[in-house]
Amino acid sequence: MRVTLRIRRFNPETDRKPYWGEYTLDNCEPNDRVLELLHRVKWEQDGTLAFRRSCAHGICGSDAMRINGVNRLACKELVMRLGEGDHIKIQVEPILGLPVIKDLVVDMEPFFAHFRQVMPYLVNDSPPPADGRERLQSPEARALYDDTTKCILCACCTAACPSFWANGDYVGPQAIVQAHRFIFDDRDQATDERLKIMADPDGVWRCRTIFNCTSACPRGIEVTRAIGEVKLAILRGGRGVGQAGEAKS
Ligand code: SF4
Ligand code: SF4
Ligand code: FES
Repeated sequence: MRVTLRIRRFNPETDRKPYWGEYTLDNCEPNDRVLELLHRVKWEQDGTLAFRRSCAHGICGSDAMRINGVNRLACKELVMRLGEGDHIKIQVEPILGLPVIKDLVVDMEPFFAHFRQVMPYLVNDSPPPADGRERLQSPEARALYDDTTKCILCACCTAACPSFWANGDYVGPQAIVQAHRFIFDDRDQATDERLKIMADPDGVWRCRTIFNCTSACPRGIEVTRAIGEVKLAILRGGRGVGQAGEAKS
């Protein structure tokens, strides 16, 4: 099988503007991943091609890119899902809404700034259980935020969000997922503070419920549902179940 990759290239040191580079590879397999093909281009045709990757198994979240117009992890996207026949053409671009550093590598700092904004850590100033055990939590309480613990910070959701493209000050769906993970954790005591951050004009209300984020998430997180639950928590003035300090200890 032959695959032609059409890749958005840009080197700020030599290019005045981005351009499309085309690279044709023979002897490809239907179950090759896009990441393998990018490696072949880099190793066999053009060593200057820049992209991020690390685990190659859908865990580290570093190789998010726009593949045939949809945000995906290159290490999870199989050639067979991207076309039919003996010669498949695949278009690969950097994710949108973040500045391009080189080729498929974007500056993730604006994304991580929003992540840090929502206090992505457990806050609990009460003394831990005297016998040295961990703070206990019921399976039912854990289930409230189980989905949002699965985030790998790939940015596929935020970089697919038209509200974020229009206004980079919007915290974006990932930051809301991160806030949700702690807002609905009954061991956490910073619910009010996080809900205040979420209620900011650049917080959760900028979401227009377009659902791009949910379909972009490679972890299958129900992003838009989590956003809706955070909106409801703001309207209720709290998470509504298991307020801070109610966790068993
Ligand atoms: S549902 Fe909200 S956060 Fe998700 S893509 Fe649409 S506007 Fe953005
Ligand atoms: S919510 Fe999903 S798409 Fe968004 S950063 Fe986390 S894993 Fe990636
Ligand atoms: S390389 Fe780690 S998620 Fe793809």
